[in-house]
Amino acid sequence: MQKLLVANWKMYLSDREAAALARAYLREAGSAPCRLAAAPSYTALAAVGEALAGSPVALAAQDVFWEARGAYTGEVGVESLSALGARYVIVGHSERRAIFGETDELIGRKLSAAARGGLVPILCVGETREEREAGARDEVVRRQLAGGLANLPEEAECLIAYEPRWAIGTGTPCDPGEAARVHRMIHAALEETFGATRDASFAVLYGGSVDASNVAGFAAEDAVDGFLVGGASADEKKFIGLLQALRV
Ligand code: PGA
Repeated sequence: MQKLLVANWKMYLSDREAAALARAYLREAGSAPCRLAAAPSYTALAAVGEALAGSPVALAAQDVFWEARGAYTGEVGVESLSALGARYVIVGHSERRAIFGETDELIGRKLSAAARGGLVPILCVGETREEREAGARDEVVRRQLAGGLANLPEEAECLIAYEPRWAIGTGTPCDPGEAARVHRMIHAALEETFGATRDASFAVLYGGSVDASNVAGFAAEDAVDGFLVGGASADEKKFIGLLQALRV
């Protein structure tokens, strides 16, 4: 299967810019060397979802709340995201963990609600620089997997994104060989918990400073099923460059 590129537009774009970028994605989609999904901010989901409807570019949300409805000021539930055509939802992004204090337990609730509601969660895991230097990378990733997937419904599709925090937005990605080793460790942990057949159903993406200059190195690794791209996905020229780099 072709690799999957999930574009995380974070809070980089106005709604109008997001809709324009979605149209650029559509122009590229027919000849793209990978599958595509775009994650605009909440307020742009409707416009981007409309632009992408019926196209090969899937719609993704950047976050979700675990309750279906109720007195939860500022939150957005699964039903609203589905109604706008979302197929994927990112959960546990390191910016949510670091800036908003999201814990593994809370991320697990979001992931479970998303999967039960028919969305495909993309669980982000990854260590900080300090954790890496202390030799705790694998332990941290395993803990985040266990917490995030604690209540994953059987049969539900779910993706994992390995995003070392020190590589996000820094221009310094993980070495592709090292990322592939972590991806294999992730599969070993999933196999231990869920068994070999279920483990094989988890695609594992790499994220953290992926751009046109390095994406081919990640694409060459069998253990890398795709990419979660921030900065380089939120700019039309850089995005076209990414696709170009994947073609050669
Ligand atoms: P980056 O972000 O590509 O800008 O490093 C990746 C992410 O945070 O998902």
